[in-house]
Amino acid sequence: EKQFENILVEQKDRVAVITLNRPKALNALSSDMEKEVVEAVEGLDSNPDVGCIVITGSEKAFAAGADIKEMKDKEYPGIYLERFFGDWKRLTNARTPIVAAVSGFALGGGCELAMMCDMIIAGDNAKFGQPEITLGVIPGMGGSQRLTRAVGKAKAMDLCLTGRQMDADEAERSGLVARVVPAAELLDETMKVAGKIASMSKTTAIAAKQAVNRSFETTLEEGLLAEQNAFYALFATEDQTEGMSAFAEKRKPEWKR
Ligand code: CAA
Repeated sequence: EKQFENILVEQKDRVAVITLNRPKALNALSSDMEKEVVEAVEGLDSNPDVGCIVITGSEKAFAAGADIKEMKDKEYPGIYLERFFGDWKRLTNARTPIVAAVSGFALGGGCELAMMCDMIIAGDNAKFGQPEITLGVIPGMGGSQRLTRAVGKAKAMDLCLTGRQMDADEAERSGLVARVVPAAELLDETMKVAGKIASMSKTTAIAAKQAVNRSFETTLEEGLLAEQNAFYALFATEDQTEGMSAFAEKRKPEWKR
C-alpha cells in the first residue's frame, strides 16, 4: 500500500474512498495533493476489484480551492511551462465511476474537483462557488466550462462574476448535484450509492459513464450513434447474457466482470 501525506485511501468491498486530508488548510488543493489524488485514482482505476471511487473531504470543507498561498507568487510563463493544474486531466481519464461526497465548502478548485467527478452527492451544509474573481483570477480547473454545462449560463455567470456561494438546495435545483442528504448521513448515503454502482458489471458501468460523457463532447446524432454501438457491443459480454437470463429466471445476476 502506498503511503500518502495529503489524502487517505481506504477500500470497503468494491468501493474505494479517497479522503482529502489537509484539515488546517480546509483541504486546499496543493500541487502535492493534486499529485496524490491523481496517482491514487489511477491506481484504483486499474484495479478490477474497485467498482466505484468516492472522493470526499471533511465535514467543514470538501476543499476550499487551490492553495492560494502556494499560488500567490507564481508568474507567467512559469505557470504556463509547468502546466499548472494540468495533471487533473488524468483524473477525468479514469473509467471507474467517481462520486464526490461534498460537505461544507467546495470553492474554486474544490467545486471544480467535485465537477470532475461523475456525480455529486451533497450534505445539506454544502456551499459551492467559484470565488476566483475575488482573487483577481478566473477558474483554472474547469469551472467556467463544467459549471456552465451543469447549471447553464445564468447561474454560471452569477457565480463566476460575483464569487458568491450557492447552498446545497440551490445546487440541486440548478442541476449541479444529484442528491442532497443530511450532512450527518453524507458518507453513509454516499457509500450506499457507490456500493450500488460497484455492484453492477464494471464493463457495463464503464459503458454507461462513457455514453453519458459523450453527450458533452459531440452532436446528438453522433452521440446517439456512439450509444447505439456501445449498446450493441455489450451483447458480446457474458454480463449481458447473465443479466438478462437472471431477470428471466427471477434471480440475482452474478456479474463476471
Ligand atoms: N488556500 C490556502 N489556504 C486556505 C485556503 C486556500 N484556498 N482556504 C482556506 N485556507 C486556510 C486559511 O488561510 C486558514 O489558514 P490559517 O489558519 O493558517 O490562517 C485556514 O485554511 C482556515 O481558513 P479560514 O480561517 O479562512 O476559515 P473560515 O471558516 O474563516 O473561512 C472560507 C472559510 C470562506 C472557505 C475561507 O477560508 C476562504 O475564503 N478560502 C478561500 C476560498 C477561495 O478563494 N478559493 C478559491 C481559490 S483559487 C482557485 O481555486 C483557482 C482554481 O480555479 C483552481
